[in-house]
Amino acid sequence: MKLSAYRIAANKLRTTRILCIKTESPTVKTLTFKDKVCAKAKPGQFLMLWIPKVDEIPLSIMDVNESGEVSVAVKRVGEATTMLHKMKEGEVIGVRGPFGNNFTLTDGKVLIVGGGTGLAPLWLLAKKLADKKAKIFFVIGAETKNELLFRERIEKICGKENLIATTEDGSYGVKGLATTPLKPLLAKENFSIIYTCGPEKMMRKVFDLAEEHKIPLEASLERLMRCAMGLCGSCVVGRYRVCRDGPVFNSNKLRQIKGEFGVSKRDFNGKRIPLE
Ligand SMILES: Cc1cc2nc3c(=O)[nH]c(=O)nc-3n(C[C@H](O)[C@H](O)[C@H](O)COP(=O)(O)OP(=O)(O)OC[C@H]3O[C@@H](n4cnc5c(N)ncnc54)[C@H](O)[C@@H]3O)c2cc1C
Ligand code: FES
Repeated sequence: MKLSAYRIAANKLRTTRILCIKTESPTVKTLTFKDKVCAKAKPGQFLMLWIPKVDEIPLSIMDVNESGEVSVAVKRVGEATTMLHKMKEGEVIGVRGPFGNNFTLTDGKVLIVGGGTGLAPLWLLAKKLADKKAKIFFVIGAETKNELLFRERIEKICGKENLIATTEDGSYGVKGLATTPLKPLLAKENFSIIYTCGPEKMMRKVFDLAEEHKIPLEASLERLMRCAMGLCGSCVVGRYRVCRDGPVFNSNKLRQIKGEFGVSKRDFNGKRIPLE
């Protein structure tokens, strides 16, 4: 009863104004706005952001604070995200959420692996893990140095010695993918859990390595979302709906969707298409 009242409240569209816009990289901007419902979100949850006259899109909750402020990091990829990048402080947006489940918090030794805007939910996760005094190792990846997100603030949380940055073109840190430094790292350190978010093929590699080393994993998945309430079925993967049963999937659930995880997704017509 309590849960459904919460779900109804979360699903109600609230309008708010953009308070602050920060350019994080040539393609990513962070938008901050007030929304007291989403400000109570747990790491891993997402919201639906409505851009008036354009669209409503799912975005991970990247940060929250006690003053009721919420931040999202938006990569410019198409119509809605381009419009968001053009918006100014003070303009009106709509918010529904928070939706979905969340990462599990621990005080152990943890590894976080993130690529691109997958680092958004991982930033809130890292902050909450640091509050619990977890020992955090972080691997962040991007194509180029300019696109490496949140490097300085992540370094402050986990320490320079526990942060490995990778770039595909070698312009910063280790040349290669976020998965490149994992084999030696997993051979050296004993982690109680691995968390990952980013391109799904990257997450599949992290999952395979975690299985090999028998380490529990939590991965945050993306699928097309419309209702975000488990009703429309557009986010289906295996027998799960990512908006309701995810977006965070643990090793057990990932084993059940191995045929699709890192392999395929569904388009707007429900047709299964290979992941790029
Ligand atoms: C749970 C979740 C969390 C996300 N978190 C972030 C985030 O923190 N930052 C970020 O930049 N992006 C995030 N995304 C992806 C973001 O929703 C898409 O980039 C956005 O919807 C693209 O809209 P567009 O109109 O700009 O692009 P379009 O040209 O419409 O689409 C470009 C691509 O974006 C994806 N996409 C489009 N519409 C949707 C939709 N309704 N649901 C899911 N994917 C869609 C598709 O893969 C599509 O091919 C997240 C997606 C999900 C499902
Ligand atoms: S987005 Fe509608 S069921 Fe998940």
